[in-house]
Amino acid sequence: MKQVQARKHLKLAVLASGRGSNFLAICQAIRENRLDAEICGVISDQRGARVLDKAEELGIPAIIIEPAMYADKDRYEKAIVDQLQAWQVDLVVLAGYMRLVGPVMLEAYPLKILNIHPALLPSFAGLHAQRQALDYGVKVSGCTVHLVDEGMDTGPIILQAAVPVFAHDDEDSLSARILVQEHQAYCQALQLLAEGRIYVEGRVVHII
Ligand code: GAR
Repeated sequence: MKQVQARKHLKLAVLASGRGSNFLAICQAIRENRLDAEICGVISDQRGARVLDKAEELGIPAIIIEPAMYADKDRYEKAIVDQLQAWQVDLVVLAGYMRLVGPVMLEAYPLKILNIHPALLPSFAGLHAQRQALDYGVKVSGCTVHLVDEGMDTGPIILQAAVPVFAHDDEDSLSARILVQEHQAYCQALQLLAEGRIYVEGRVVHII
């Protein structure tokens, strides 16, 4: 059994492609002393992502690293890793980062990259998870915080939270209900890591 992170004040970087509500929830948890961490910076692969403005408003470094700026995915991810190393981050927090993480990042940060997904994995991996859940007709959905491996939303699961799916739900209403749980679950999972309480054995995560 391997401890994922020794107990410490965590230095985090957030990778996000869009709106940034999970990023803001993490900032709020830090401010309210529910999370022993700091955010060293935000990286977005999308010029104009709203998360960049939100970070700047809070005085957190926010930078754009776009795949199109590099010859291939390895070089793109090397640029990200260089920035993460310059910030000396402990953990990389994917918060609505809409790309598959490749070997360059995984090798630089083994078991140190987290993701949040808006479904109860292994159901409904990939894009449009909430729509997939509605189309399938499930009565319960939710969110999953997991460690990132080479697969699409396949890594060891740290925490999950469930929400009901109602007959009148559409993608927006279900997404909003799940998002409330995402904000709580992500901060809880990060605090468990800050407390050194997360161990992994194969693909099973133990909280001790
Ligand atoms: C969140 O719902 C997150 O779970 C999802 O993107 C949204 C980002 O929202 N991530 C994925 O679907 C990853 N497969 P935010 O930018 O407001 O945090």
